[in-house]
Amino acid sequence: MTGAVRIDFTGRVALVTGGGYGMGRASALRFAECGAAVVVADIDQSKAAETVELIREAGGKAESVHVDVGYAEGVREMVDFTVATFGGLDYAHNNAGIVETMDLVVDYSEDLWERVLRTNLTSVFLCLKYEIPRMLERGGGAIVNVASESTYKGNVADIGYTASKHGVVGLTASAGLAYAKHNIRVNAIAPGNVDTGIIERARQYLTPRQIRHLETVQPVGRLIRPEEIAELVVWLCSDAAALLNAAKIAADTGWHVA
Ligand SMILES: NC(=O)c1ccc[n+]([C@@H]2O[C@H](COP(=O)([O-])OP(=O)(O)OC[C@H]3O[C@@H](n4cnc5c(N)ncnc54)[C@H](O)[C@@H]3O)[C@@H](O)[C@H]2O)c1
Repeated sequence: MTGAVRIDFTGRVALVTGGGYGMGRASALRFAECGAAVVVADIDQSKAAETVELIREAGGKAESVHVDVGYAEGVREMVDFTVATFGGLDYAHNNAGIVETMDLVVDYSEDLWERVLRTNLTSVFLCLKYEIPRMLERGGGAIVNVASESTYKGNVADIGYTASKHGVVGLTASAGLAYAKHNIRVNAIAPGNVDTGIIERARQYLTPRQIRHLETVQPVGRLIRPEEIAELVVWLCSDAAALLNAAKIAADTGWHVA
């Protein structure tokens, strides 16, 4: 990436969930560009394979794994696969997540609540549970979870999403405090509107006015690029971010204080 900070992850291993598309794909590519071997995990196997192909074409090292991060067995297998394939685990971007609807609380179905909480929150608990022991074996590591700008001000629509992302912030704080002395840092990023699959799908159910708002509401006046998020993720994993732990980092060009 032009103008990117030089980070050397040679000999390191990174795991990215939801690495088949959007900001997960961007961070997988950036981890590989920095020299890490990367496991690209996704529920969409063909998209994960595409990311791996892009990494290999650029001269990097990567493998894909098919997983639904909402279930323990899959997450344990994903982490075991990473260690068996590349010899350990140093960095994790626990990124997979879904936005399904703009329904308000009374219209929100119990099934959807269960699915969104499982995919966005239980998944992060499971990733932490199975990733941290592997990082302890390496003497440390760094984890970046994905919250959302909606954790600053709430969000009238999609309460399951908002609740799940608030939960991610709490999990991040607890895990970060618990393992600080073991050289493992756990942080969360809180992105604004990023130009990914979530926004592409939202274009199908939002009005043109709502779309325009979504595109321009941030102080910078445009959508954030997935590559900009990827840069933040790898930097948070690097030693340059040694003092950042158990933190929520706004990645929204200042929208949360606007
Ligand atoms: N795009 C935004 O504006 C925005 C803003 C704030 C937070 N986020 C969060 O960023 C993260 C990444 O989203 P994105 O915007 O890149 O979306 P995206 O839809 O482009 O990518 C998400 C990826 O996760 C995968 N995935 C979905 N469910 C999964 C599961 N159960 N198991 C494994 N993989 C699964 C999808 O197949 C996809 O490849 C999500 O947690 C999302 O909530 C996005």
